Amino acid sequence: MSAQINQTTLWQKAPRQIVLKDKDVHIWRMTLNQSETTRQDLWQVLSADERQKASRFMFASDSHKYIVARAVLRMILGQYLQVSPITLQFGYTSYGKPYLQNAISTPPLHFNVSHSGDVALYGITRNRRIGVDVEQMRPLADEAQFVKSIFSPVEQQAFGRIRPSEKQDAFFNGWTRKEAFIKAIGLGLSFPLEAFDVSLSPGLPAQLLEVRGTPGYQEWSMNALSIGPEYKAAYVVEGRQHQSSYFTFSNN
Ligand SMILES: CC(C)(COP(=O)(O)OP(=O)(O)OC[C@H]1O[C@@H](n2cnc3c(N)ncnc32)[C@H](O)[C@@H]1OP(=O)(O)O)[C@@H](O)C(=O)NCCC(=O)NCCS
Repeated sequence: MSAQINQTTLWQKAPRQIVLKDKDVHIWRMTLNQSETTRQDLWQVLSADERQKASRFMFASDSHKYIVARAVLRMILGQYLQVSPITLQFGYTSYGKPYLQNAISTPPLHFNVSHSGDVALYGITRNRRIGVDVEQMRPLADEAQFVKSIFSPVEQQAFGRIRPSEKQDAFFNGWTRKEAFIKAIGLGLSFPLEAFDVSLSPGLPAQLLEVRGTPGYQEWSMNALSIGPEYKAAYVVEGRQHQSSYFTFSNN
């Protein structure tokens, strides 16, 4: 099962009129650390339940990030659907994956969101499922335990062969790729992490190597994404033939 490779990513300003064809994959990024003025503007597009959620975070910084990430999701989706962001209504699957309850388009728009550190990442497609994941790399005190609980036996062997100086990169390569896959299929952690293998060696392409026991994933593509030295990121889409574009969000 080979995969689409995206070694070079080019982040660009989005065009005024955004067009999303069936083969297109649009990846957006947003910096979550925004001024109070910007946050106040973004607050205006949130729904009542989102405002309530924002007020329930224990730390103000988490609340601020949630406000920016959710409001920007609304603004991005609003551009594709040509509706006001505030009119969008989200439903949630039993696994917690948000989906659009109104403003349904044909063929349907798919989206997925991830946030870590100061970065929010959004994947938008038409008619094909997508999952994205970004992680800010950090030292893990209990790395061995994480490796055992997250990685499949094949991945654990591959991780064992990585030289110490590259282990952190390899770990977060594996983490983000696995997470992007379980988010693309929508099942989150209820999908067994040991049932599929991803590549994790630094310098080698992102690949969904094998999915055991569940047919139908041979045609899915796994891609690594370059965000900056502190981060690892990946996205997974249904199908092989696609064309990716990378946009930075600006609300001006
Ligand atoms: C919820 C989960 C899907 C991702 O959580 P996460 O990595 O902590 O957070 P991310 O920022 O990447 O993603 C969160 C977003 O995913 C979306 N999401 C939630 N449930 C989802 C699901 N079942 N499928 C796809 N997307 C989902 C939501 O939009 C959410 O953002 P929101 O809360 O602002 O609406 C789930 O996989 C989880 O709990 N993971 C824990 C992390 C872990 O242990 N990973 C192991 C390595 S593979």
